[in-house]
Amino acid sequence: MAIGSGDTIVTIKKAMAKAAGEPDVVAAVKKWKNKRGSLIMVLHEIQNSRGYVPRDVSLYLSQELDVPLSRIYEALTFYHYFKLEPPGKAVISVCTGTACYLKGSPALVEEFSKETGAKVGTSTEDKLFHLQCVRCVGCCGLAPVAIVNGKTYGRLTTSDIKKIVNEWREHFSTDDAK
Ligand code: FES
Repeated sequence: MAIGSGDTIVTIKKAMAKAAGEPDVVAAVKKWKNKRGSLIMVLHEIQNSRGYVPRDVSLYLSQELDVPLSRIYEALTFYHYFKLEPPGKAVISVCTGTACYLKGSPALVEEFSKETGAKVGTSTEDKLFHLQCVRCVGCCGLAPVAIVNGKTYGRLTTSDIKKIVNEWREHFSTDDAK
């Protein structure tokens, strides 16, 4: 896919490489590639796991599914279900698929809620955190799993949660992350 100047191409390649390393994106593509309606199904999975569909993921999908980027944005803007912007600066997605559920994800949800102050499906008042439960994100071997802004945390226990929340608080308190 050749688009624009050298700088633009480098930026696009970096964005696609980032998305290519994210387990939920890779799992969704693997699951739906070459199936009918694959684009919408993959977009649904990404929306579910992230709370929105990031641009770097759209770029990656365009290449992997061989669909023009314009077609992807047509779908994203046509259906109200899809969001292009994150509902909070840090979107915490706790997997409550079967493997994660059996390994204790409900307790993780509670702990994330306690540490952030966000209830499931809502954002904190300052929009720093958004908490949501999602279906299997495709890395059951790491259960129980949570994803925060594309970063996967596996084999979690409730004692890990405070550290993760603080990590993201610090991340967004630095000037360059605002
Ligand atoms: S059930 Fe959580 S990653 Fe599969």
